[in-house]
Amino acid sequence: MRGWIVPPPREPTKSSERFAAERAAKVRWLVRHGYLRSERIQQALLAVPREDFVPHPYRDYAYQEVPLPLPGQQATISCPHSYPLFYEPLGLAEGHRFLEIGAGSGYGAAVAREVVGPDGLVVSVEIDPLTLEFARKNVERAGYRDVVLVRGDGGLGYPEMSPYDCISITAACGEIPAPLIEQLRVGGRLIGPVYAGEGQDLVLLEKGAKGVQRRAICQVLYVPLRGQYGV
Ligand SMILES: C[S@@+](CC[C@H](N)C(=O)[O-])C[C@H]1O[C@@H](n2cnc3c(N)ncnc32)[C@H](O)[C@@H]1O
Repeated sequence: MRGWIVPPPREPTKSSERFAAERAAKVRWLVRHGYLRSERIQQALLAVPREDFVPHPYRDYAYQEVPLPLPGQQATISCPHSYPLFYEPLGLAEGHRFLEIGAGSGYGAAVAREVVGPDGLVVSVEIDPLTLEFARKNVERAGYRDVVLVRGDGGLGYPEMSPYDCISITAACGEIPAPLIEQLRVGGRLIGPVYAGEGQDLVLLEKGAKGVQRRAICQVLYVPLRGQYGV
């Protein structure tokens, strides 16, 4: 993975108490560094054991700020700070209908499930069958029975359950795929990495009655989007 130094695989040694302490410390760190503001997203990050979404040989590194490899082609679980980095500008909240492109480990979907609660909806689309299988096992083992996991090309979205209040694309696109903007409700927000020059911008779109407003938030580094809208 270019740009990140992934720590070496090893047999995990940390206890569940140690992981819980690391999780709480990470949440405090995210607040201190300005990534995390919403109480609901804080509670969601505290509720989901990230270590259970990380492949066994990388489990001990679950709370390090590095993306870790997953089964499948070019799949990673994103760094811990990526989740509030995406969900805060989206304004992800209770009752929202949320679509994620790139299920990866299933962690982002589980955190979103905690945020939107029983009146909301979480749909996550993954293109890689091996990665999807990994996500499915993690999500089910963690007890999330109502996350809709779909195998498919997320560039096409998932029109069957649209419109969505929030859409998060977790792989880098050349441009935001048009079907995703169509599936966003008026007033809804979409976030995702878009190639810009040598790097990638994290782009936030807001869909209004009269058109779409767009702004770049910061530079990021994500795996490329595959499929019809792939780079
Ligand atoms: C950075 S990872 C996702 C991390 C994930 N959200 C998590 O919480 O673990 C990006 C994922 O996007 C997937 N992906 C790439 N192109 C895709 C596409 N067109 N449709 C759906 N998934 C795609 C990759 O297979 C990879 O699993």
